[in-house]
This record gives sequence, C-alpha cells and structure tokens, in this order.
Amino acid sequence: MHRVILSRADDFEGWRDAARAAALADIAPEALLWTVEGEGGDLFDDARDPLPPPARPAFAVPRRFLDLAGDVALHRDPERFALLYAMLCRLRDEPALINDQADPLRRRLDRLAGDVRRDVHKMRAFVRFRELDGAYVAWFEPDHHIVRANAGFFQRRFATMGWSILTPGLSIHWDGETLREGPGAVRADAPTGDPIEALWKGYYASIFNPARLKVGTMLKEMPRKYWANMPETALIPQLVAGAQARETRMVERIVPGSNAGRAWEALREEAAHCTRCSLHRCATQTVFGEGPVDADIMIVGEQPGDHEDLAGKPFVGPAGQMLDRALGEAGLDRSRIYVTNAVKHFKFEPRGKRRIHSKPNAGEIRACRWWIDQERAIIAPRRIVMLGTTAIHSLMGKAMTLSSQRGHALTLPDGMAARATIHPSFLLRMPDRDQVEKEFALFVKDLKAAAD
Ligand code: URA
Repeated sequence: MHRVILSRADDFEGWRDAARAAALADIAPEALLWTVEGEGGDLFDDARDPLPPPARPAFAVPRRFLDLAGDVALHRDPERFALLYAMLCRLRDEPALINDQADPLRRRLDRLAGDVRRDVHKMRAFVRFRELDGAYVAWFEPDHHIVRANAGFFQRRFATMGWSILTPGLSIHWDGETLREGPGAVRADAPTGDPIEALWKGYYASIFNPARLKVGTMLKEMPRKYWANMPETALIPQLVAGAQARETRMVERIVPGSNAGRAWEALREEAAHCTRCSLHRCATQTVFGEGPVDADIMIVGEQPGDHEDLAGKPFVGPAGQMLDRALGEAGLDRSRIYVTNAVKHFKFEPRGKRRIHSKPNAGEIRACRWWIDQERAIIAPRRIVMLGTTAIHSLMGKAMTLSSQRGHALTLPDGMAARATIHPSFLLRMPDRDQVEKEFALFVKDLKAAAD
C-alpha cells in the first residue's frame, strides 16, 4: 500500500502532482491511500511506501477532466481524491470516457463538482460585509473547502475596500493590496450590525425572482443557516406580496409548460455556472437572455453593463432605456421580443469605486457563442437584430464593420435572417444633441425594418 499525504483539504495541485506520478508508476487505485495532513493520518502510519519511479510513458488527460477535478477536489467527501485517481487511471487507457455521461463514476464526479459549484455560487451571493472599526467583515459557513479558491473573486469584486471573510476553517483578509490567510473563526468573532444593509437590500430586491418563491426551492437556494446573516431577508414578506403579479407576468412570457420553456429554463440554469472563459471570475453573475421563448424577434447586444450585472437582467440600465425608447418609437413591444447579449458576463476594469466597461475580445465572444447558439435553437426567431459590432462578430462568426452590414437584409451563416444596427450606448456617448436625434431616428428606422 502506498500513501499520499496532501498538505491541505483543498490541495488540488498536490493531488494532481501525486496522481500523475502514481499513474505513471502504474499504481492501482486500490493500492493507494489518499490522506490530508492532520486529518486522521496517524491511523495509517504503516502505509508510507514512497511512490516508485515511472513505469510507463507520459500521457495526456482531457482538459475537461482537469476542470472537473479542480472542482471535485474542493468537496468535503473524504473519498474525493481516491475517486479522481480512479477516474484518471481509466482515462489514461480510455480518454473518450470523459464524454460518457452514463458512466457511474463520471456521474458521481459530476455530482460532487455540482455541489462545489453551488457552494461557490452561494458564497458569492450570500456573503454580507458589516462594518467593524472601519473594516468590513463577513461571516460565512461553506459546505465544502471552497474559501481559498473563492478568495480571488472577492478580491477582484471588492478591490478597493479592506475586508475579512471569517469561516470556521479559514479566514481570508484583503487590505487593498495583499490577500492573507488566517485561522478559522467562530460566528461570535464577526460583527452583527448591518450598516451596509441598504446596499444589499436594493441589490436583492432587484434580483428577487418570483419563480423561486416555492419555499422548498427557496430554502435550497438560500439555506436557513445563511438567513441570519442577510439583512435583505427582512424584505421577503414585501417581495412575496408583490410576487404573484410578477410571476404571472413571467409565466406569460416564458411559457414554462412547453418543451421550449423547459429547455430554456435548463439552459439558463446551466449558464448560471458558466466558466467557459475567465469573465465569470469578476462578474457578479451570468446575465442570460429574457423574453418569450416563442418570440419572433431576437435582439442581441454586446454584454451586460454595470446595472445588468447587478440585476441579472439584460438591458435594464441606461442603454436599455435608450433601447426601450427606440423600440417604442418603432412600434415594437419589448415584452414580445427575446433580448440577449453576445457575451453573458460583464467585462470591466475597476477604476476607484467604479467599474468601467471593457469590450470583450474574440476569444470571449467565441466562448460565449455556445450559449447564444443554443438560445437561438430554442427560440428559433424569425429575425435577429444585432446591436453593434460585438453582436455582428458573434453571429456572423467573424469581425466585420457595422457600416458594411447595416441597412441590408442579412443572412447568418446558418441561414437565419438578420439585420444589423448601432448599439444604443453609441447614442449615449455622443456629445452633440442634434446628432443624437438624427442617429436615434436612423436606429428606429433600422428596428422598423427588422420588424417588417
Ligand atoms: N449593453 C449591452 O450590450 N447589453 C446589455 O444588456 C446592457 C448594455
């Protein structure tokens, strides 16, 4: 029996190096014991044989497996490292196994990875900072070993303020320059006041989703252990009161009983965990498209802005207001249109306390194309309206100028009908009012042409 001692419960790199060495040395999964330093290791003192030298040539494993392993390694299941090693040994001989979704081991690993991703998402959504002696401190109880892996998100998201996140196993501290780790804490170490409550309440009310009102679903999404931590839960009675009417509106728009409605819901849920490019690391959430699944027209913008990133809905900020005004003038009803973006996460550069929009690059557009292709397959609109060059790049499959595409009836590479026009934020950036009016009129004309 050989034994690997990993330095920490979330030591993915340690697992990767040891697993690679063990697989090259041809050690069978059942002959290898995975332990974590300080976690009951003394029981196995007799199993300390060092790993033998490589017995077979190097081999490559699919990138997808490494991504999966990176998540699974953070699960609290004590078998996680052994399960991953068993999968690695099988992939060594049969790489295509990574695509076999019916394989029981693959399914078990997928479930573990899903648990971890949900926990990561919960930490991002439910951590609440309270002020303590000029610093912001939050308390959080994760289900899995996700705190270290999630620290970068908070560092980027709250780059300009000093903060600490206390958890039972580990604390992380950011002073605006350096991220430090400290020992675990207890709830009593964290302050209980709520001076930045207003900020979170506003944020929460804007993202409250009446479709999640079923109590079971709500508890699943927001387990009770987080409730005491969250000032905005005080809002729930009010939100519930208004939810029925909002839900009716949503139901009318999503057509949930239909196949397309179900497929769209599943797709949106999957997109909420998207890591296809690095933009998810800084953005608050995926901003998926919205509108009726049987819409005739689909409008595609560039990417969510600051408002959309917080609200989780496309085109709700200033560009969205401009779009709404133009749609109104064109005689189009936004509630009958499916509105989405070429890129689903907000890309920005922090400048002081502000987050300045930054244009997505070709790789990000390509990575996100996967989602828009599926949205198009479900909605099957009669016509697509591309707002600006990022949407054109995404849907035409290559970078093209707006002037070369605007004003024509276009055909996308897969045969779907489309039109191209300006992005409404172009109007917001124009200094000259007369010019804005002229451009606005042309924008309205393009939208009318798209509807005809
Ligand atoms: N700009 C976009 O392209 N999309 C949005 O959702 C908001 C602003």
